[in-house]
Amino acid sequence: GVTSVAERLAALVRTIPDFPRPGIQFRDITTLLLDPEGFQLAVDALADSVSGPVDLVAAIEARGFAFGGPLALRLGAGMLLIRKDGKLPGETIAEDYALEYGTDRLAMHVDACAPGKRVLIVDDLLATGGTALAAARLVERAGGTVVGARFIVDLIDLGGSDALRAAGVDSVSLLTYE
Ligand code: PRP
Ligand code: ADE
Repeated sequence: GVTSVAERLAALVRTIPDFPRPGIQFRDITTLLLDPEGFQLAVDALADSVSGPVDLVAAIEARGFAFGGPLALRLGAGMLLIRKDGKLPGETIAEDYALEYGTDRLAMHVDACAPGKRVLIVDDLLATGGTALAAARLVERAGGTVVGARFIVDLIDLGGSDALRAAGVDSVSLLTYE
């Protein structure tokens, strides 16, 4: 229709001021997930933005899991879970990263990605890019090839898409905020 995908998604993402810290405008995708048409639109738009083959969708805990499952099935790919350190039961590799509001450590199973697998990273939101770049380092340490990264929301002022481009990672986001 005449309303763009970005406009339709923007109407379903809620902004919560001062969460989790004063001064942060939290872009909340839980309201998008509650709307089946919006959720489907988001997954379809992510899938349509992918051109080459994908073997695994690497989804980032926690909100990346919500989009990563349906996106993986639409792409005919498996789903690789990238979790906060300490959650995965098998042997893991881990990477530290800085966030808009703190630091954290991500991990993946060392044997989750056979060498040469083409891996698409997915998360709900791109801010500084620290999380997605840590995920990309994990996938590459495991022997995978990162074919791109996909997000619902890009907070453009935080520079994540520039950081991903500088690292050679193709990224697409469906909706931007300044
Ligand atoms: C949010 C978001 C991304 C990350 C983006 O997750 O879901 O994963 O921040 O920030 P960055 O681009 O600056 O790295 P958060 O760390 O809040 O974790 P959660 O999904 O487990 O709530
Ligand atoms: N992750 C990092 N910054 C965020 C924000 N402003 N809103 C939602 N998730 C985030």
